[in-house]
Amino acid sequence: MEKALRSFLLTLLLLFHYTSAMIRTNVSTDQLTLLSLKSQISSDPFHYLDESWSLNISVCHWIGVTCHYRHQRVKSLNLSNMTLTGKIPRDFGNLTFLISLNLGWNNFHGNLPQEMVRLRRLEFVDLSLNKFSGEVPSWFGFLDQLQVLNLTNNSFTGSIPSSYFNISKLETLDLTSNSLEGQIPKEIASVENLRYLSLYGNNRIGTIPPALSNASRLETLEISANLLEGNIPEEIGNLHNLNVLSIRDNQLTGSIPFTIFNISRIQVVAFTNNSLSGNLPNGLCNRLPILKRLTLSRNKLHGHMPTGLSNCSQLQLLSLSQNDFDGPIHSEIGRLSNLQKLYLGSNHFTGIIPQQIGNLVNLVDLGVENNQITGSIPISIFNISSLQLLLLRGNNLSGFLPREIGNLTKMQFLYLHQNRFTGEIPKDIRDLVELEYFDVGFNSFSGSLPTEMFNISALRIMLLSFINISATLPPNIGSTLPNIEELYMSSLTNLVGTIPHSISNCSKLTTLELSENKLSGLIPNSLGY
Ligand SMILES: *[C@@H]1O[C@H](CO)[C@@H](O)[C@H](O)[C@H]1NC(C)=O
Ligand SMILES: *[C@@H]1O[C@H](CO)[C@@H](O)[C@H](O)[C@H]1NC(C)=O
Ligand SMILES: *[C@@H]1O[C@H](CO)[C@@H](O)[C@H](O)[C@H]1NC(C)=O
Ligand SMILES: *[C@@H]1O[C@H](CO)[C@@H](O)[C@H](O)[C@H]1NC(C)=O
Ligand SMILES: *[C@@H]1O[C@H](CO)[C@@H](O)[C@H](O)[C@H]1NC(C)=O
Ligand SMILES: *[C@@H]1O[C@H](CO)[C@@H](O)[C@H](O)[C@H]1NC(C)=O
Ligand SMILES: *[C@@H]1O[C@H](CO)[C@@H](O)[C@H](O)[C@H]1NC(C)=O
Ligand SMILES: *[C@@H]1O[C@H](CO)[C@@H](O)[C@H](O)[C@H]1NC(C)=O
Ligand SMILES: *[C@@H]1O[C@H](CO)[C@@H](O)[C@H](O)[C@H]1NC(C)=O
Ligand SMILES: *[C@@H]1O[C@H](CO)[C@@H](O)[C@H](O)[C@H]1NC(C)=O
Ligand SMILES: *[C@@H]1O[C@H](CO)[C@@H](O)[C@H](O)[C@H]1NC(C)=O
Ligand SMILES: *[C@@H]1O[C@H](CO)[C@@H](O)[C@H](O)[C@H]1NC(C)=O
Repeated sequence: MEKALRSFLLTLLLLFHYTSAMIRTNVSTDQLTLLSLKSQISSDPFHYLDESWSLNISVCHWIGVTCHYRHQRVKSLNLSNMTLTGKIPRDFGNLTFLISLNLGWNNFHGNLPQEMVRLRRLEFVDLSLNKFSGEVPSWFGFLDQLQVLNLTNNSFTGSIPSSYFNISKLETLDLTSNSLEGQIPKEIASVENLRYLSLYGNNRIGTIPPALSNASRLETLEISANLLEGNIPEEIGNLHNLNVLSIRDNQLTGSIPFTIFNISRIQVVAFTNNSLSGNLPNGLCNRLPILKRLTLSRNKLHGHMPTGLSNCSQLQLLSLSQNDFDGPIHSEIGRLSNLQKLYLGSNHFTGIIPQQIGNLVNLVDLGVENNQITGSIPISIFNISSLQLLLLRGNNLSGFLPREIGNLTKMQFLYLHQNRFTGEIPKDIRDLVELEYFDVGFNSFSGSLPTEMFNISALRIMLLSFINISATLPPNIGSTLPNIEELYMSSLTNLVGTIPHSISNCSKLTTLELSENKLSGLIPNSLGY
């Protein structure tokens, strides 16, 4: 406390000192100041400043510099993304007409000099993606014109100074990926104009203060990847302007307050990887006309899938995976025509995959793995030509794989592992030219593996273990599967023939499992076994 007071008084003192000095400054001061900055830049590999920042050119024409048209003082400095390495000198505080400062995407390091408190006209500050360190400066809180402060991806420490919440014009505060600690200050409530707040990826501890709900203009609240615990306060539902509510990767408990399903402007709700429990209310979508992403995976939610999800008609991503949901997958999901990703895996869902899923013509990822789903794959699924990932492993699915599987030409990840599929694997599988993962192990397929399988050059991982089919490794496997990394064929009951020598040309191969089958011949030495 005493320390805080001392630094506050010191700041006041500096303010006085410099305000009187300011009167005598002119454009030469600005030029000297920038030359002082240049002298602290130890590396400028693309020679941005070398060439342009010199005395024979007016400072107002230097690269990255903009002057006020009337009084010819430097009002904006934009050195973003120039690969500069260096420090900010104390003199930098002499650039008193500066309104906008962007040093983002460089390698600036060290502390920010306290003298910068003199930059009273600053409205926009972007220091993102640098290596600034030290305590996050409290004096930003004295820059009362500040609207945007972006310190993303630096190494600032300490706690968020409550002075920040005194800046009445502050609209954007982005402190993503630093090493800030301590509680989220209650004073946030008093920043009337705050629209964007991100504390993503710090070490914030404690709970989410209910007072947050008084920051009524807030549109984005991003507080993921911290160490927050306790409940999500009911009062969050009062943030009527919220678009994005993201609290992933924390340790939150309790149930999801139903009040948030009353925020009609919300587009993103992300609560993945917490310990939230309770169930989801039926009709939660009744007041969410523009919700695009709802991600609740990796929690302890239970109960049935809520009814009325189809009212979230703009939904693009729905993730309920890794919870304890049970009961059926409602066929109304088939009405979410904008859905691109649907993750329902690792729950206790029962019943069938509804035929209506085939109406989701924009679907890219479909995960229903590790549930207790029965029946066969609805043929309608093979209509979804955009599908890239189909995760069905660990269910009780049965029936044949139809020839139409060849329609899924964008498929990259096909996991059918551990079900009760029967019949032959259709030759049409050869049309899945982008297939990287093919896992059909632990099923009851019969017949023989189409040799065309070995012509899918994108394949990285193929798992054929424990299926009752015959297969022969083609002699030219080394050239037809150039990308193969892992090949599992153990207990493939009828793997016959020899191991082709060319397999040693599969240079990315790390795992080859062939135990317990009828292959003859030696494994080529070159494989290093
Ligand atoms: C700036 O002020 C200094 C004295 O404070 C003076 O010597 C100099 O000529 C001035 N420069 C311009 C460009 O007015
Ligand atoms: C910045 O201002 C201080 C105080 O007025 C002065 O001592 C210093 O020389 C100035 N630096 C430059 C580079 O003009
Ligand atoms: C200004 O001086 C630098 C060297 O200090 C030189 O490289 C550059 O060509 C000069 N520019 C002009 C426009 O005279
Ligand atoms: C700064 O420069 C970057 C890259 O040239 C540009 O994207 C950005 O809009 C500029 N302006 C500000 C205020 O940062
Ligand atoms: C930085 O520059 C690189 C290459 O010039 C470009 O790819 C990247 O998009 C730029 N980033 C920003 C934020 O301007
Ligand atoms: C802050 O900077 C980062 C990196 O340049 C950028 O991705 C992010 O969008 C900025 N934050 C805001 C709120 O504009
Ligand atoms: C920001 O930092 C995080 C980790 O500190 C890193 O994962 C991320 O890639 C960085 N962002 C950018 C745009 O470099
Ligand atoms: C906020 O501003 C008021 C008056 O402008 C001042 O009295 C108070 O000390 C400031 N609080 C902080 C934490 O800076
Ligand atoms: C929100 O602000 C009002 C009025 O300033 C105050 O009475 C109330 O306690 C605040 N709410 C919270 C949750 O802090
Ligand atoms: C889940 O969140 C915790 C922090 O609460 C983090 O340490 C962990 O890496 C996250 N897990 C995953 C899989 O992202
Ligand atoms: C949602 O809002 C309606 C009307 O605005 C209100 O009657 C209802 O109680 C609210 N529900 C929750 C859970 O906050
Ligand atoms: C598969 O594609 C063929 C031709 O492209 C089309 O006639 C057929 O209807 C498709 N079948 C399914 C189930 O989508």
